[in-house]
Amino acid sequence: PSLKKVVGDKFHIGVAINTAQSSGRDAKSVQLIKKHFNSVVAENCMKSAVIHPEENRYNFSQADEFVKFGEDNDMFIIGHCLMWHSQLPRWFCTDSEGKNVSPEVLKQRMKDHIYTVVGRYKGRVKGWDVVNEAIIEDGSYRKTKFYEILGEEFIPLAFQYAHEADPDAELYYNDYGMNVEGRRNTVVKIVKDMKEKGLRVDAIGMQGHMGMDYPDMKEFEESILAFASTGAKVMITEWDMSALPTAKRSANISDTVAYRKMLNPYPEALPDNVSEEWNARMTDFLNLFMKHSDVITRVTAWGVIDGDSWKNDFPVRGRRDYPLLFDRNYQPKPFVKELIEKK
Ligand code: G3I
Repeated sequence: PSLKKVVGDKFHIGVAINTAQSSGRDAKSVQLIKKHFNSVVAENCMKSAVIHPEENRYNFSQADEFVKFGEDNDMFIIGHCLMWHSQLPRWFCTDSEGKNVSPEVLKQRMKDHIYTVVGRYKGRVKGWDVVNEAIIEDGSYRKTKFYEILGEEFIPLAFQYAHEADPDAELYYNDYGMNVEGRRNTVVKIVKDMKEKGLRVDAIGMQGHMGMDYPDMKEFEESILAFASTGAKVMITEWDMSALPTAKRSANISDTVAYRKMLNPYPEALPDNVSEEWNARMTDFLNLFMKHSDVITRVTAWGVIDGDSWKNDFPVRGRRDYPLLFDRNYQPKPFVKELIEKK
């Protein structure tokens, strides 16, 4: 029994993998990846800071290994991500004096970057997160360098270049907090506008970084339907659910020790298979994804085992979280076990 056997007829079931996994060094995780998933996405190695650290230097070694891993294991391979303000090398938007480059220069750099990266994996990487996290909660554009220099145009331009570089590749807009109405409405508008212009947009990626008290499931469902109304498909692209209480960053805590304690009151209290509430909430969301499998074409977990999750370092380094489908002993969480054993 495996995840892909149980839900694989509904949507691709994917996982984000790191370099220890794509190189094969982490053999135990590799076993889980091969058994349970039929799609992979690069957790870090295709981000511009890694793959294109200097204007005239690309670093393809890890990305090549990732794509080969995907092919060797017959996976639907996703590239993440082409245009993102984070993990963005400084040279991309600025000149040697640190001033913003002109719109023409940025367009040329975007084009070179996208043509080179997408072009290299043409026909092999099946879908790309073209633009990542460009809209904030209130529905306005995030004030990134891309936006400062090019305005709203940077999004359609990125989709245009990606399509030119590989006309067969699927192209996605990807963002977090997609249940929030402001962001939802703007993303719907952007995707509709692009489609009306004739640009290719295959899916809207809802990252799905969740916690015990967010997102609201009803809002999340409303977003699935709103995104589907654009004619694009929907993907849950970075699924995980923190098992720790939500940290209020705004809390007035000047004492770092107390702050850390608040963020991480366990681990003793929470075992690796996590609480019943956590398992129930994961089941509820998975059921929601299955209910909408006519429009949801992929569900991807953001990592294999809890120990490798970015959540252990967020919002402070070194805390211990339990957000993924497999625990630190490579065992499926109870909700996964139940699901695959039912079949
Ligand atoms: O590779 C270096 C290593 O050489 C160095 O010693 C170490 C010390 O800091 O850092 C390592 O790089 C880290 C990298 O992950 C690989 O582990 C970076 O510091 C760290 O910032 C980076 O975090 C990643 C984060 O994106 C920022 O790029 C997380 O792994 C990754 O899970 C996370 O993923 C993002 C998605 O791309 C977009 N959506 C949100 C999601 C979660 O933040």
